[in-house]
Amino acid sequence: MSKSLVSVSTQALVLFYFEDKKLSKSLEECDKALKGILSGLKKDGGLEGKEGRIDVIHSKNGLKASYLLVVGCGKKDSFTHETIRNLSGNISRRLIDLHIKTASWHLDDLTLDPESLGKAVAEGIVMGAYTCDDYRSKSEKKAAPSHSFLITKEAKKFEKGYALGQVVGDSVNVARDLANMPCNFFTPTKAVEIAKKSFPKSSGVTVEVIDAKKAKALGMNLFLGVAQGSPEQPPAMLVLRYEPLKGKKPVALVGKGVTFDSGGISIKPSLKMSEMKGDMSGAAAVMATMMAVARLKPKKNILAIMALTENMPSGGALKPGDVITGMNGKTVEIINTDAEGRLVLADALAYAVSQNATQLIDIATLTGACSIALGDVASAVLGNDQKLVDLLLKNSHETGERLWQLPLYDEYFDYMKSEVADMINASETRLAGTCTGAIFLKQFVKDTSWAHLDIASMMHFSKTSGYTVKGMSGVGVRNLIAYVLS
Ligand code: BES
Ligand code: ZN
Ligand code: ZN
Repeated sequence: MSKSLVSVSTQALVLFYFEDKKLSKSLEECDKALKGILSGLKKDGGLEGKEGRIDVIHSKNGLKASYLLVVGCGKKDSFTHETIRNLSGNISRRLIDLHIKTASWHLDDLTLDPESLGKAVAEGIVMGAYTCDDYRSKSEKKAAPSHSFLITKEAKKFEKGYALGQVVGDSVNVARDLANMPCNFFTPTKAVEIAKKSFPKSSGVTVEVIDAKKAKALGMNLFLGVAQGSPEQPPAMLVLRYEPLKGKKPVALVGKGVTFDSGGISIKPSLKMSEMKGDMSGAAAVMATMMAVARLKPKKNILAIMALTENMPSGGALKPGDVITGMNGKTVEIINTDAEGRLVLADALAYAVSQNATQLIDIATLTGACSIALGDVASAVLGNDQKLVDLLLKNSHETGERLWQLPLYDEYFDYMKSEVADMINASETRLAGTCTGAIFLKQFVKDTSWAHLDIASMMHFSKTSGYTVKGMSGVGVRNLIAYVLS
């Protein structure tokens, strides 16, 4: 311990405490200064160290700090990066609620390596403090405190991790902002506007828009088919390029950007239909990842494609029974116009292939079935290249964004046979809905290494806890950033 905790000059001192019968050394030091308040609490059954519990103690009569926050960490052997990420989210919000201006976190009691600790703490602080406050007549936003950290060992490494964690957290919050935007605000046109603002020349990312006319010329009829139900809002295939390595082929990130999914003619029930403003969460994750790329400047060429359109039921909309031809020449019979995500992605993936991408990762709120399979605790990953899937799985253990692999057996394509065309867009059975969605996409990637992330299950959270905030989740950003950095 470099400095006596008693004399740390801050408004709130944050201490971590594992479940134990005794007070920790740090708590003991404070206890002495506080004339036995902490040991008294402990004796009465408080200060158990239970994970997630935060005791707030008024400490002015004893410490230099006005508040002492004792943060329960649970059992030492189950303490992970995910634990500290969640704790940091809770601490971040509690400090804001207490109107704290300055907080000092004493981290020497935590055993994780300093760099990854710094990253997790920053991610938790930034993500946990997120609020969506742009659409109220009066802002309810409260100021966040400035945080400082007391860490004796390898403080430089901690700072390095912390700086990266802040970029990651900011990017997640960008994705949340985009997905939380009401769909009368976030249209394809608006997305293009945001991209042009976010990626000036100096960012190293170029912005290119394939509008309806260009898309037509490229043969993107699956994408345009979805868009034709919404004559009011023109679609946009938004293409971002980051190419620091001259003459090298890129990897591609492809996002589903359905800015509102009514289901089209196969219209959805009205219950929770408003949540379908978040059906562009895949595109939001890709855009936010590119903002992180512009800041982190990885040495990798990246092609980012966002297929942006509404799915609406105008008189000109796609109809069940229609047959359309995709950019790669394959024909699709529309069975259900609510299976629109795979249509827009099919052309986006075919476009990425035409641009010589060496690897493809698509990310999409593709199927309700994903929630049936995994609940709201994990996203699904499927792909044609086990090495790539394994990389994503491995990264996900570090990022804390859970992925679970589902199979892509060839037999799933038997469910997609059409009487008249190369395939149908939605199987008539409800079996293996996430897998049939993915096997459809597989028809459009040729033999390029490809993985598909179905994030429908994780798009939205109904409660705030840890670094998770009620509303659109910003899911996918952390895994995509880890991928572009790996
Ligand atoms: N956007 C939905 C999937 C979705 C559902 C995302 C719930 C987030 C939360 C997608 O376009 C859709 O409607 N999929 C259909 C596919 C079916 C018709 C084959 C579905 O899941 O019911
Ligand atoms: Zn749909
Ligand atoms: Zn959709």
